[in-house]
Parts: sequence; C-alpha cells; structure tokens
Amino acid sequence: MSITKREFGKLESGEEVSVYQIKNESGAYIEVTDYGAILRCICVPDKDGNLQDVVLGYDKLEQYFVNGCYFGSTIGRNGNRIAGGKVPVNGQVYQMPQNENENNLHSGPDGYEKQLWKVKEVSEEENAVTFTRMSPDKEQGLPGNFEVAVTYQFTGDNEVKIHYQGVSDQDTLVNMTNHSYFNLSGHQSGTVADQYLCMRSEEFTPVIDSKSIPTGEYAKVADTPMDFRTEKKIGQDVDADYEQLKMTGGYDHNFMLMDYQPGKVRSVAKAYAPDTEIVMEVLTDTPAVQFYSGNFVEREEGKNNAVYTKRSGFCLETQFEPDAVNQKNFHSPILKAGEKYDSTTIYRFSVKKD
Ligand code: BGC
Repeated sequence: MSITKREFGKLESGEEVSVYQIKNESGAYIEVTDYGAILRCICVPDKDGNLQDVVLGYDKLEQYFVNGCYFGSTIGRNGNRIAGGKVPVNGQVYQMPQNENENNLHSGPDGYEKQLWKVKEVSEEENAVTFTRMSPDKEQGLPGNFEVAVTYQFTGDNEVKIHYQGVSDQDTLVNMTNHSYFNLSGHQSGTVADQYLCMRSEEFTPVIDSKSIPTGEYAKVADTPMDFRTEKKIGQDVDADYEQLKMTGGYDHNFMLMDYQPGKVRSVAKAYAPDTEIVMEVLTDTPAVQFYSGNFVEREEGKNNAVYTKRSGFCLETQFEPDAVNQKNFHSPILKAGEKYDSTTIYRFSVKKD
C-alpha cells in the first residue's frame, strides 16, 4: 500500500492542485485530485493481469475546469435535478441556480467539482485520502454552513470506497454522489453497449419529459426495457421504442434499490465486460441510483489521447431520487442541523470467476 502525491497544475489564483495516487500491494491503483475531489482513474487488473483504467477522465487540470460531462466528479451539495431550482426547507423556499432549462442540475455552476478542496488526511494505514471543505451558508442558494468531507480508500481487494461525511448548522438539502463514467473494457475502448449490467431494482422513477424531472411515481421495471434484474447488455434495449428511453436518448433514470435501510450498505448492482472479464460490483447505503448510459457525451479528448463519444462510459450515481425535496412520495434528502450526514458507496473490482 502506498500513497504518492504529484503536482497537477495551478488555479488562476496561483493555488496548487495535486493528484494522489493510491496503490495497493498488487500494483492496482486509483488517482484522486483535490480539485473537485475528483476521481481521475481506476487502474485494475483484467483477465491477463494487465492493468486497465476503467474510468473516463482528463490528463490536464484545465480540462477539469470545464468538464461538462462531470467525469469522476464529486457532486454536491445535491446530485441530479431540482424542478425550478426550488428547495423548500421548513416552509421557506430557497432558490438554486437554474443551469439546465429552468431546473437545477448537479447544484449548478458552483458545484463541488469546481472547488479546490483541503487535504484533511493522507492515511498510509487505511490507504485513503480525505478531502474536506466548508460549503458556506447560501452557497448554491442553500441554507446552512455545511462542513463536508469525502474519503477515497483503495483496499487490497481492489475496492474503491467513497465515504461522505458532513454536518450543517441549519436544516439543509444534502445528496452527494460521484459521477464516474465506467468502461470495464478500458476507458479508451469505445462504447459500453456490449457490457453487462444487473441491478437489484424493481422500480424506477419515470420522467415527465426530456427535461428529466420525475413524475413523482415509482414504476415497475417488469416487462419494460428498464428491467435489469437479470444481467443484460446495456445496448440490448437502449434504443428500444419506449417513451421513457426516447425522451432521454437512452438510459438516464433513477432506479430504486432493494432492501433500503438508512446506514446499511448492501450490494445493489454488478457490471461486467466480456473482453477484459473485469467485474464491478456496486455497494451503497443510498435508496436509489441514477443509471446513465452516457447519452450526451459528444466528443471529449480524454486521457492518453483517447476520444470519448456517446456511450463511451456509463454512470451508476448512488443517491436519493431526483427532485426528492419536492416529492412527498420520495425519500427525504433533508439533513437536520447538527446531525451527521454519512454515506458510503463502494465500487469493487474483480475478474470474472466461472
Ligand atoms: C444526468 C444526465 C446528464 C449527466 C451529465 C447525469 O447525472 O442524469 O442527464 O447529462 O449527468 O450532466
């Protein structure tokens, strides 16, 4: 286990940005940066023991200043969409930026992925790096000073553990997620259509229209292209003649995860690439996950001269339902003043065993 730090570049203010490489005994490693608490790469062994980098990302810090697709981003204070950017808390309505149509997406232009975080701890013992920042009252329009930390740990079992912790001095909205795009054949390998996905989900949250605000209902996945209860290729039904998929240009929906109990981490999804035989299992304590099949990636110059386009990666963003703060059927994403926000998501990598 080892953690090494290198320079990634500078902000316009002159502040230095670093990359931390967190390696385990096998030589597999991840890289994270204090700019945006972004996960820049995950290099894990394939069936031949060669390391494959299985997430999309950039080589240059300047590219992360733009990062319109949110590669590897820590999204906060709120992941996903809020109708009209309006957040009611204790009878008062707070206005978030309207950065996508009239709605808020991923907290707007001042998202956590665009901030320089402090490095709170580099733990050789845990093989982990903890980033922290104070998100001030009214940042993104939200109430409360929110002291937040994100820990990335890379274990000897090739698990990437992401642990979010925080506390606010006022009741507020908190729904953090990571926006990594996975490609289990390697980030440079093109479409993920032939990769398999299975999710422990019987229901999803349909959207009203192409602006992707949920109707507020839960719909059964059975007998629809949204059914991933047994593994199937991401590309199998992605272009099906099914209204929900046509509106969003492919999968871009929130799936309810079975056996939700606050604070309990359970296995919720598994993905697999037949060529590399790399398997990724997702474990989390959140009630839902946004499965996004990279529909809007247009042309991005990625790491090592890779070019990413539509469906070069898929996201499994663990979270509360979109717009949950405005939907009484959904799980409440409100964090009470003084209470601890604590959420864990694990992406566990292995090679398929027959
Ligand atoms: C959203 C997509 C969006 C993507 C990048 C995902 O979480 O659901 O609609 O295009 O993030 O912003």
